[in-house]
Amino acid sequence: MAALHTDRAVAVIGSGAMGAGIAQVAAVAGYTVKLFDTRPEAVAKAMSDIAAALNKLVARERMSAVDCAAAIARVRAALTLNDIAGSALVVEAIVENLDVKRGLFAELEAIVADDCILATNTSSISVTAIAAKLRVPARLVGMHFFNPVPLMALVEVISGLATDAAVAQTVYDTAAAWGKQPVHAKSTPGFIVNRVARPFYAEGWRLLNERAADAATIDAVMRDCGGFRMGPFELMDLIGHDVNFSVTQSVFGAYFNDPRFTPSVLQQEMVNAGFLGRKSGRGFYHYGDAAPAVPQ
Ligand code: NAI
Repeated sequence: MAALHTDRAVAVIGSGAMGAGIAQVAAVAGYTVKLFDTRPEAVAKAMSDIAAALNKLVARERMSAVDCAAAIARVRAALTLNDIAGSALVVEAIVENLDVKRGLFAELEAIVADDCILATNTSSISVTAIAAKLRVPARLVGMHFFNPVPLMALVEVISGLATDAAVAQTVYDTAAAWGKQPVHAKSTPGFIVNRVARPFYAEGWRLLNERAADAATIDAVMRDCGGFRMGPFELMDLIGHDVNFSVTQSVFGAYFNDPRFTPSVLQQEMVNAGFLGRKSGRGFYHYGDAAPAVPQ
């Protein structure tokens, strides 16, 4: 088995925080990347964010100006889904919703070549369930990156019940060629990291509800004394409360409403308000000029 060759493009569908990062990593590794989003402005923002991130590396002398320009030139906007035909790999990074993901993959199957691998960056939805409605479920695999993608080494390569082992191995080898540290995992709710991390967030919410301490104190204790890189609230602000809440809901449902995974009503209210964390400027902390959304 070997990594996919750079002579065929990689398509990334969804150009938010994750899609932009995945596109950057693939482009730096030498692949032409086609970026699509239902909101063209998201593609434009992703492309300018990628250029800014790579230019920063040049300024810090961690990348040459020539390599930077070449990587930026490899990222192309796909104006319609049809523009991604011919890609060897499609990585889906759209909204965390089973029906929407299934709908997208059904559309993609009609566009891509028979040997194109379909990958989902889902955080928590069953890869088996996403694949089930496809004409060829064997070619769908989870390729789960972590945020921020250019900095986080881990990629979980998730096999659903129908996933072809050769497809999973090609994605594993491709992630390694992109400079990542892939691991194989089976499709279980939350996979490895998001399963283990659920109690980290859930106990943070419980502590907050019980007024044990404010969010900033809990974060500081976990970060500065507990050996964690980030506390639960600053990490949820980074991930996005919409994404984090969807993952908790999905794991909760998948384990038949096991109370250990009960989603937080306060987090649901933050999502309702659009206080999503860093990406909206407001969460537990404020980013830019916005005031914090949640009383500390
Ligand atoms: P985001 O909200 O930043 O970006 C999602 C993008 O997808 C948006 O630009 C939206 O316009 C676009 N989109 C929605 N429906 C679409 C469709 N049908 N076709 C094309 N584009 C569509 O979300 P983010 O954080 O990038 O997450 C994307 C996926 O990655 C989700 O499945 C999430 O669970 C997963 N993920 C997120 C992580 C995180 O820390 N944020 C970490 C690992 C995985």
